[in-house]
Amino acid sequence: MSSVPASSAGISLSRFLIEAQRDQGHIDAQLRLLIEVVARACKRISIAVGRGALGDVLGTAGTENVQGETQKKLDVISNEILLEANEWGGHLAGLASEEMDHPHPIPNRYPKGEYLLVFDPLDGSSNIDVNISVGTIFSVLRCPPGANPDEADFLQPGTRQVAAGYAVYGSSTVLVLTLGQGVYQFTLDREQGSFVLTGTRLTIPEDTGEFAINMSNLRHWEAPMRRYIEELLAGTTGPRGRDFNMRWVASMVADVHRILTRGGIFIYPRDMKDPTKPGKLRLMYEANPMAFIVEQAGGAATTGRQRILDVVPETLHQRVPVFLGSKNEVERATELHRMAD
Ligand code: AHG
Ligand code: MN
Ligand code: MN
Ligand code: MN
Repeated sequence: MSSVPASSAGISLSRFLIEAQRDQGHIDAQLRLLIEVVARACKRISIAVGRGALGDVLGTAGTENVQGETQKKLDVISNEILLEANEWGGHLAGLASEEMDHPHPIPNRYPKGEYLLVFDPLDGSSNIDVNISVGTIFSVLRCPPGANPDEADFLQPGTRQVAAGYAVYGSSTVLVLTLGQGVYQFTLDREQGSFVLTGTRLTIPEDTGEFAINMSNLRHWEAPMRRYIEELLAGTTGPRGRDFNMRWVASMVADVHRILTRGGIFIYPRDMKDPTKPGKLRLMYEANPMAFIVEQAGGAATTGRQRILDVVPETLHQRVPVFLGSKNEVERATELHRMAD
């Protein structure tokens, strides 16, 4: 990451977005408002997460989402915060989320905008109750002109994203954003209540000695996946001739944020635990936004077979295998899968 020059210290997200619109012409007024509103919602989620046991926000909500996962209270609260913040501003034509079966239309009493917002309101739910970093992931698409969007209008490949980002609610709250012109990082100044630019043009090193994967699934993996990890584990005397270290937070946002900070490869491969599922992570609101960010930072993102951003979605909640991060490692893992096909 290039550190922020002293002269730009204190640049707020609002100023960054106004300059992206006015001086660079990278975004229009609706997209600027959209990002502002999402950031404001993330601030509210950050406050709810931070209250922990004091806020009656821990534990399960006692309901299940369309993925068959038990919803945590904070999954539901975060989803509601994002919906409420976004539906009245006039910048959206519709929203879709991990926690909702179907897209959420903009109520008729509000004006409609040109964009579609897709999000994972709270990523890493299993970590909420144990005080480990969680986050929010979002992706922005254009609504086809004139459409009162239905599910089919959301099914656009990741290459069509006009913006993507995530917030990590960790030891500090960080917002990472791409408008398709590099990746920028903002840190929440809790006293001021605003996001401040703390990293410009983040880049992921091409090589790494660190991998992130849930190793407990090894016995369920496909052969090329096992081979790739065995190569890494073999260390200095193996085919890779060097040692690799492992890290696994089990919150995609936190694992990806580490990779953006110091490199690494993150993998959630296809496994045979449930052969009906092609992977665990969801294309529209986890894989695509992260792939866009990682590519914008000079990294790579594949399903093990093809570029994630080229996958044409068939359903809203579709799952895909995910390999992303430092380019040379993602290419090696992808090469092994292609050789085995
Ligand atoms: P979510 O909490 O939004 O359902 O996503 C959970 C995902 C992701 O954050 C993480 O990488 C993965 O699930 C963790 O999976 P394991 O339970 O296999 O560790
Ligand atoms: Mn979930
Ligand atoms: Mn998630
Ligand atoms: Mn989630």
